Amino acid sequence: MVEREAFNLKVVGSIPTSGYIIIGDTGVGKSCLLLQFTDNRFQPAHDLTIGVEFGARMLEIDSKQIKLQIWDTAGQESFRSITRSYYRGAAGALLVYDITRRDTFDHLATWLDDARKHSNSNTTIMLIGNKSDLEAKRAVAKEEGETFARDNGLFFIETSAKTASNVEEAFLKTAEDIYEKIQTGIIDITNDSSGIKVGPLQPGIVAMADQQSTSSSCC
Ligand code: GTP
Ligand code: MG
Repeated sequence: MVEREAFNLKVVGSIPTSGYIIIGDTGVGKSCLLLQFTDNRFQPAHDLTIGVEFGARMLEIDSKQIKLQIWDTAGQESFRSITRSYYRGAAGALLVYDITRRDTFDHLATWLDDARKHSNSNTTIMLIGNKSDLEAKRAVAKEEGETFARDNGLFFIETSAKTASNVEEAFLKTAEDIYEKIQTGIIDITNDSSGIKVGPLQPGIVAMADQQSTSSSCC
């Protein structure tokens, strides 16, 4: 299959690209995770996202370069209908809660329902308990996150966008699973809705966000 060969970088000049979406309640640290992943920095007083913002970065998997195009969505309820339209193009979804705010954990089932309803059935979903640096304020035990993930067939990791702990791992583990699904034929990358694109990078479809070289003006 030509596209799979291209994914394995057998076609010179083409870059395999995987779409990610980051979802979860407002204030859990989605934009800060993206900023840490794309720019290696943390912004302590960060503005809430309006609509959808965009970031991109290269990752190496199995000695191959893969481009991640990441849509960082607004967690506020009023933006829900805009952000829902981004699920379909995502091969990976990062579902984030804040380990210091139990309400953000309690809302996971609703977020997961939404993700399952609107995304591709093969989308890899990674559950992320963010703000692990705030251990003294912890309101959700790590085991609770692990149990929710196990019960719902998700990957799980705790991160800190502040210290960068496990941020790279969260994106990488998701990409590795997507890569594995392509290798084993679970994801058919000839299907437009797979969230995997092969070929020269497109400008991207960005709502209410500026696309700059590697990340948006979100933080
Ligand atoms: P919306 O855009 O409204 O959906 O929120 P968001 O999920 O993008 O949250 P954002 O990244 O803007 O972070 C909210 C606040 O939490 C900011 O003040 C951040 O500085 C803070 N924050 C984010 N991640 C961490 C973290 O890992 N540790 C600590 N201590 N603070 C964090
Ligand atoms: Mg945000």
